[in-house]
Amino acid sequence: MLEIKNLSKNFGGFTALSDILLNVEPGERLGLIGPNGSGKTTLINCISGLIQDYQGEVYFNGENLNSLVAHKRARRGISRSFQIPKPFTSMTVRQNLLIPLEYAVRADDLQGISIEEQADKIIDDLDLNEKSNQLTSGLTQIEMRKLELARAMAVKPKVLISDEAMAGLSSSEVDDILKILITLNETTRITIIMIEHIMRAVMSFSERVICLDAGRIIANGTPDEVIKTPAVEKAYLGE
Ligand SMILES: Nc1ncnc2c1ncn2[C@@H]1O[C@H](COP(=O)(O)OP(=O)(O)OP(=O)(O)O)[C@@H](O)[C@H]1O
Ligand SMILES: [Mg+2]
Repeated sequence: MLEIKNLSKNFGGFTALSDILLNVEPGERLGLIGPNGSGKTTLINCISGLIQDYQGEVYFNGENLNSLVAHKRARRGISRSFQIPKPFTSMTVRQNLLIPLEYAVRADDLQGISIEEQADKIIDDLDLNEKSNQLTSGLTQIEMRKLELARAMAVKPKVLISDEAMAGLSSSEVDDILKILITLNETTRITIIMIEHIMRAVMSFSERVICLDAGRIIANGTPDEVIKTPAVEKAYLGE
């Protein structure tokens, strides 16, 4: 579904990603781990089109995306949440979803369900019912994270990429987000790529885990296999 071929990205003389080769399957739950600065967000930026001046190729359902800007890639079905949530703070939770929905939903795939009803469905899926008509400026941290995921879902993605949606949350809040993401994956069969530093969360979520270190993939396998890879341990703990 998503094919990344020989992707490299330099910032000046610094190599952030080096020759990344990766296939992601439909409906897969993929974890992306790696120490700070290993290139996780940069990889997502290249896939989603926020960065376009990379070397290599990004294919989605057989189409080469290289020449497409971010909003066109979103239209194809690639959606990502940001590490730092960026909602429209002068709008309510619901209004924040109507904007991407207006953009993403074509008249022919409304299937008799209005944009407003679709917003309410996402609000329900993300467990934001009580905040639906509140301004986002008054949201708590976990509500902000849920809204960030809701906004990504409002693009009607085939692939949802979540960039550290759980950072800074309590253990029970982490469980909340985990449950929401697993339910979304099981009910809609969308592919979810989870970038996460919270090992417990990413290991229980993922069917497959990839570990980046200094811009290279150093492990690719089941959570158990990856966690037991000596290079992964070394990347996290140092020599
Ligand atoms: N716009 C940029 N200009 C220059 N260097 C950058 C830029 N964006 C990222 N980098 C560098 O590229 C490397 C990879 O950064 P990236 O944000 O992808 O890491 P990450 O794995 O997401 O880290 P974290 O876990 O801290 O979020 C880092 O060394 C970072 O400083
Ligand atoms: Mg990052």
